[in-house]
Amino acid sequence: MTEEMFQLIKGATEAFGPSGSEEPIREFIEARVKDYVDEVRTDALGNLICIKRGPADGKKVLLDAHMDEIGLIVTHIDDKGFLRFSNIGGVNPYIALGERVYFANGTTGVVGIEKIDDPKEVKLEKLFIDIGAKDKAEAESRVRVGDMAAFQRHAERMGSRIVSKAMDDRIGCVVVMETLRRTKSPRHTIYAVFAVQEEVGLRGARVAAFGIEPDVGIAVDVTRTGDTPKGITMDVCLGKGAAIKVKDSSLICHPGLRKYLERLAAERNIPYQLEVLEAGGTDSGAIQMTKAGVPAAVISVPCRYIHTPSEVVDENDVEACINLLVAAVESPLDF
Ligand code: CO
Ligand code: ZN
Repeated sequence: MTEEMFQLIKGATEAFGPSGSEEPIREFIEARVKDYVDEVRTDALGNLICIKRGPADGKKVLLDAHMDEIGLIVTHIDDKGFLRFSNIGGVNPYIALGERVYFANGTTGVVGIEKIDDPKEVKLEKLFIDIGAKDKAEAESRVRVGDMAAFQRHAERMGSRIVSKAMDDRIGCVVVMETLRRTKSPRHTIYAVFAVQEEVGLRGARVAAFGIEPDVGIAVDVTRTGDTPKGITMDVCLGKGAAIKVKDSSLICHPGLRKYLERLAAERNIPYQLEVLEAGGTDSGAIQMTKAGVPAAVISVPCRYIHTPSEVVDENDVEACINLLVAAVESPLDF
């Protein structure tokens, strides 16, 4: 992977943007894609919609990746200046404990815990955020109830793998951004949706798809893998290529479109694997159910340790996903 690609992934994953607070990541993406598209707009919920026009006889193809990340939201500030919080999306208390977090204004905090007698007592309600304030007034000068925090971690290379926070789903955003940049002659008009609020229920993609009324929808998101010691039973492995989703708990992908993507990958020698994700959803679940229904598929980036501050992907899988998505928008999509 080139240094430019790594820096793009680093910037995208390190940008701030828990669900509902996506402004920083939206600005990051908009600045980098605006030269490769014909039109950019932000809708009422905050979705960034980028249009790249193709020939008049082409289809309307919605490409989706969600911009939001999981995070914490302040619910209460106590007299000593400690913050109580709730979760934004799937936050595991064992994983949050001891983490450093940061707020949009740059305030840093540490996640601590009350005295407990049994590790089973590690629950979100026993945790608090310490921002170094001496009392409530000092805390309130930096953070208010309702403010959100994200995990604070940097992206790093580990051999052919990359670790960072928020690979879910900034790596999908990078795949769609690169697809816009590398597609010189689209056969279709591309509506690239960088969606908000996926982690709290596929909300951004739902309204974006309703407004666009696409002929085809393809989401790019991370998926789990079955290749770690005594992990879940799952066929997807890191390094074996783009995962073409068959099913997750939000949708059964359109069989014709899914098999079409398989054929494209095979024809172009793009490594791919089939994915059945037993627990978890993706924006295509919302896109598929739009109006009278939209044929929808998902290209997944295999990812270890999803919803932790150290999500790991393989750079060759990322390239395979970009190559497959470029191939899709340059193909007739006559499945
Ligand atoms: Co997620
Ligand atoms: Zn995701």
